[in-house]
Amino acid sequence: MSQNIRNFVIISHIDHGKSTLADRFLEITKTVNPRKMRPQYLDRMVLERERGITIKMQPVRMLYSMPRTNAEPTRNDAENGLLYEDLTYKIRGAIFTVKKKIGLGHKEIVYQKALEKEFQKVGLRFEKEKVIDIFYDNEKISTYRPDFVIENKIILELKALSFLGKTEEKQLWTYLKGSKYKLALLVNFGGSDLMIKRIIYDTARSFPRKSAPSQRESAQVEYVLNLIDTPGHIDFSYEVSRSLAAVEGAILLVDATQGIQAQTLTNLELAKKQGLTIIPVINKIDLATANIEKTKQEIKSLLGTDDILLISAKTGEGVEKVLEKVIKDVPVPASSADKSLRALIFDSEYDSYKGIIAYVRIFDGQVKKGDKIYLIQSEAKSEIVELGYFNPELKPDNELKAGEIGYIATGLKNIEHCRVGDTIAASKIGPLKGYKEPQSVVFASFYPMDKDDHDLLKQALGKLKLNDASLNFIPESSKALGRGFKCGFLGMLHLEIISERLKRDYNLDLVITSPSVVYKNNSEPWMEMEVITPQKYLGQINKLLSNFPGEFEDTKWLTKDKIIVKFEGPLDIILQGFYDKLKTISSGYASMSYNLINYKETDLVKLDILINKEPVEAFSKIIRKEDAHKEGKRIVKLLKENLPSYQWAVPIQASVANKIIARETKRAMRKDVTAPLYGGDYTRKKKLLEKQKKGKRKLAQFGKISIPSEVFLKVLKEK
Ligand code: GTP
Repeated sequence: MSQNIRNFVIISHIDHGKSTLADRFLEITKTVNPRKMRPQYLDRMVLERERGITIKMQPVRMLYSMPRTNAEPTRNDAENGLLYEDLTYKIRGAIFTVKKKIGLGHKEIVYQKALEKEFQKVGLRFEKEKVIDIFYDNEKISTYRPDFVIENKIILELKALSFLGKTEEKQLWTYLKGSKYKLALLVNFGGSDLMIKRIIYDTARSFPRKSAPSQRESAQVEYVLNLIDTPGHIDFSYEVSRSLAAVEGAILLVDATQGIQAQTLTNLELAKKQGLTIIPVINKIDLATANIEKTKQEIKSLLGTDDILLISAKTGEGVEKVLEKVIKDVPVPASSADKSLRALIFDSEYDSYKGIIAYVRIFDGQVKKGDKIYLIQSEAKSEIVELGYFNPELKPDNELKAGEIGYIATGLKNIEHCRVGDTIAASKIGPLKGYKEPQSVVFASFYPMDKDDHDLLKQALGKLKLNDASLNFIPESSKALGRGFKCGFLGMLHLEIISERLKRDYNLDLVITSPSVVYKNNSEPWMEMEVITPQKYLGQINKLLSNFPGEFEDTKWLTKDKIIVKFEGPLDIILQGFYDKLKTISSGYASMSYNLINYKETDLVKLDILINKEPVEAFSKIIRKEDAHKEGKRIVKLLKENLPSYQWAVPIQASVANKIIARETKRAMRKDVTAPLYGGDYTRKKKLLEKQKKGKRKLAQFGKISIPSEVFLKVLKEK
């Protein structure tokens, strides 16, 4: 039953403890065998574990039992949008019209009369002060007369109180319990703002019962909690935004030693836009450096609430309360089991046996193994090979129902047929709202070192794209480098991660060209950047920013001692190691986020790098004219430091429009690659010599010079 499902994400700035909190959830709900448990369990990629960061979103389904007393419908259900949804919207519309026309603060009777008129206008059937019987032990014991009963389904109770307490809510809930109605709306026009509460009593229908449920049955309610752990780094924010579309609630996790940081704000904005219920939680309260009061104030100034949970994801303190709050506050999925199937694909991966595995949120209907499916945008058809949920490993099951999150192995092999954002349906019906394609920020070309690997690279990129929808690539060819792909990324870390994955998972040796933004007819992309910093680093940060072309837009206080600096400048700044510099000058406390806004006219030139008088395209770049000299010097120097020595002196030059603007010389030195292998290890020696031979063959395209791929990476990475 979707009443017992809660779908939610954890969002935060990088390193505030999302994956660690998820670990505690997995333990409390006994989702993972304790013997198999390890820190940051949901970070499943080797790369994630090595670097200690989350790169991929990871869904997991957990089962959690909660005592019924805590589970009884009050505020939580009051906000869920499932029961009589359309009718409720109509009623709310009428209520808001009344508020708009006559405002707040009148007597109850005024609102009753006004609403009567509005209900008539919108064609709602209603009864005023209808007598409702209240039962006790099968016997009618009293009556109750609510202000309205609408369409014989919803009870409406009006109030004009300055403060609406739990008593009124509880009273109405008790009336529901004793009647045949399931839903009541409690409306208060007397407070500082209009308040509408939905009160639900789900078992009311079966009342009066012949026999009470057994003690055990009523003592525990089992909930299905679908959590999606998301990355915190700005380069992976597309993962976050896709996860948000599959859930109803978000835990906003804030590190008590750091307070609110740039990605806290960015991710919170995304969650708010999606209309999610936000549960603020302060983490790392076990640390001596935790500043709980300050962090509370920051959250309060952001969300306007004092209702903030305090936890240590590390020790587990307070964590169970978070789960209880998720159950109480996150709305029940507004999904309808009676409708025809519609499932949103929010992620995917490739399996050579089962085809493309779509990660889905079922919005309507249900689906079973063997069902025929239709993908609305790609128009592909298939039959389900397997389906199930995330444990977090894929766990096959028999069916997935409305409100659930799980996976569908589609059997489809062509990646074009199963795209993230598409809707899986049973037949041609209106699609769910998909995703906006993210805009690539950094571009670089990837060429295989070994030309024979071109097809492998193509396939590998395709498969990675399935698992990382923010990766873009198009074929490209170059005289010196052969056939490759121009790839678009969401940032430098994204580029680095993709190149690592290609190297490790597909054993590809690559030449990667200098990362760059995309210039258009002498104009360059411009971004809006927000830096959040404790006040004491402001001077340093202003100094750093003033090194770049661009303008300060605004500087304002976020809280008592935290400042937001808004700056507009060339997107290229982020390629120049800005993030690292920011972290260094602020001892890690400042954080940033950015957004591409438009293009601005700039004087641009092409900077070429020549090694042994031969241009090496991989190092060429379009660059602002005023930066060409400095950048040329920097690259030739770096190359000199990183290139191996050759048997003759090798000139390294930078040029603009055939004019040399910088030059270094790599001095000759004969290097015996086998020198370190003293003694008789013949096989290793032979291998090394062969490797050297192969290297020469592979890199013949650079004339007489071979350039190891590490040099490319080193030079292209260091900015
Ligand atoms: P990304 O997904 O990469 O953004 O990181 P994350 O938000 O998932 O953070 P993660 O769980 O990886 O935690 C970051 C670091 O903080 C790790 O070293 C954790 O051990 C540590 N950490 C997390 N929660 C707590 C806590 O409550 N107390 C203490 N002392 N350390 C914590």
